[in-house]
Amino acid sequence: MAVGAALFFFFLAVALTAAPGGGGGDAALVEHTFVVSEIMLNHLCNDTPVIVVNGQLPGPAIEATEGDSVVVHVINKSPHGVTIHWHGVKQQLNCWADGAGMITQCPIQPNKNFTYRFNVIGQEGTLWWHAHVGFLRATVHGALIIRPRSGPGSYPFPKPDKEIPIVIGEWWDMEIVQVERRAASRIFDDWPRSPTINGKLGDLSNCSGFIEDNYVLNVEHGKTYLLRIVNAALHEQYNFKIAGHEFTVVAIDANYVKPYTTDTIVIASGETVDALLVAGAPPGRYYMIAQAMQSPEPFLQIPVLMSRGVVSYYPSKGSTDDTPIMAPEMPDQHDATTSFYFRGNLTSLLPQSVPANVDEQLFIAIDVGDICSHDGSHDNCMVTRLNNISFHLPTTTSLLQAHYNNNMSTSAISMLKEFPRCPPSSEFGYSPTSVGTAVRTVRYNTTVEIVFQNPYSSGMFSASNPMHLHGHDLFILGQGLGKFDPVKDVQAYNLVDPPVRNTALAPIYGWTAIRFVASNPGVWFLHCHMEKHVSSGMALALVVEDGPTPETTLPPPPADYRSCDGGQNNRALADE
Ligand code: C2O
Repeated sequence: MAVGAALFFFFLAVALTAAPGGGGGDAALVEHTFVVSEIMLNHLCNDTPVIVVNGQLPGPAIEATEGDSVVVHVINKSPHGVTIHWHGVKQQLNCWADGAGMITQCPIQPNKNFTYRFNVIGQEGTLWWHAHVGFLRATVHGALIIRPRSGPGSYPFPKPDKEIPIVIGEWWDMEIVQVERRAASRIFDDWPRSPTINGKLGDLSNCSGFIEDNYVLNVEHGKTYLLRIVNAALHEQYNFKIAGHEFTVVAIDANYVKPYTTDTIVIASGETVDALLVAGAPPGRYYMIAQAMQSPEPFLQIPVLMSRGVVSYYPSKGSTDDTPIMAPEMPDQHDATTSFYFRGNLTSLLPQSVPANVDEQLFIAIDVGDICSHDGSHDNCMVTRLNNISFHLPTTTSLLQAHYNNNMSTSAISMLKEFPRCPPSSEFGYSPTSVGTAVRTVRYNTTVEIVFQNPYSSGMFSASNPMHLHGHDLFILGQGLGKFDPVKDVQAYNLVDPPVRNTALAPIYGWTAIRFVASNPGVWFLHCHMEKHVSSGMALALVVEDGPTPETTLPPPPADYRSCDGGQNNRALADE
């Protein structure tokens, strides 16, 4: 990018952070301007147009203090409709600012603006933001960091010397809207060329003798680094390791956990992990590796996706450094056990008040089905689904707007369907599937429990599915392999110190169980965070009704909220 453009973006991106008013707790205002635009990036001998924020990939990190108000002015200079979702932000009584395309708003059209206003309250750690229209989040994403009110001295772990965001992404050399179009016609075998660490492909990628840059983390011996790791990839779950070092995991999805020491961090799409790294190894250079996991054979195999960065104890040597770099030994890419145990070892730092009585119990079967009316089984009849419904985004109005106007009916939302409490059959299989805008409505303050069940017998198509709910944190009560047992598995639930996350991974061939209180009126998307899955139907919308008082009622939309005017659609492409 030209220097002039870079400066332009720099000035636009300056964050105005007012000083807190003393007394420990006055909220500040954190204000950003996000200019969304298309730029060309060259990797692997190939120029690719990508959509980015403020000319940067990853986009700017938002840094806030718990209790702050965040204001982000989005100026859409790109050729595509776009929204920004604040992944993991609870948005209490503020569903209008959730930024889920066609769920809470229609896309901000090219050459239009929208201002998001929200508070970050009762959450500390790392979250992130990303586009929520089509596949655009592949390059429209960045970290959202929330520090404690009384300063980093009050972390419930030794104060780190430095904090480092590590954003894992993926580089596609096909224009992402092309990938999206192909997925819409159910061509699912496009893959990225390489994972990225903070935007760098790393030295495993090269073309015509040109080796891609590594992300380099310069460390000082004896110092402690807080890595704020975000998996911003469209699909894959990653193993993350640094040779010669261990991590102490201290938070996940902006919720503290009991310190857990491990040499491998496992992170699925949508998740975040905060981990301490002590630079206590013999001074040297060490590879950090992000390696994608994949489903076992005989299922479709993706290319090996692996990216390396470097932890260097010799900052001064820079690029002339020729010290050999130590590499970590990675788990097998088909190994699902490392992920299962990593997750099983996480517990929340403090005891949680998990509600004991469940008002609404959902059992959600996750699999694939056939949407063609004939009995053939052509590949391009395959969709993903939850409880036998393949989710379809509304096209003329956002669900939230329809709900707010008391208009959630088939005249406003033509393919509206009630999401059932459990699947129509207890058997998994590639069976005929209905398509619809699946909605489940619950009363304010309902305690909801959901068991997410993947196909469990080997041979059936199964995947690890990171199921993400907007606007709420979830108690992760348990996970298991095979078929969920409503007696035995319930007895083993962790109701004392379960990890609290906004994304619950249903492990391959297994299940996970969550509980949460639906205390935030609005319409909240619940979906697998793998883009090909959500776009092909692995989703539903949860409507939480208003409570009895003004304090429990969703306020009217903000003044600059635009209704969809019928003509705007849910596709990323303005010209479709
Ligand atoms: Cu990060 Cu609806 O997603």
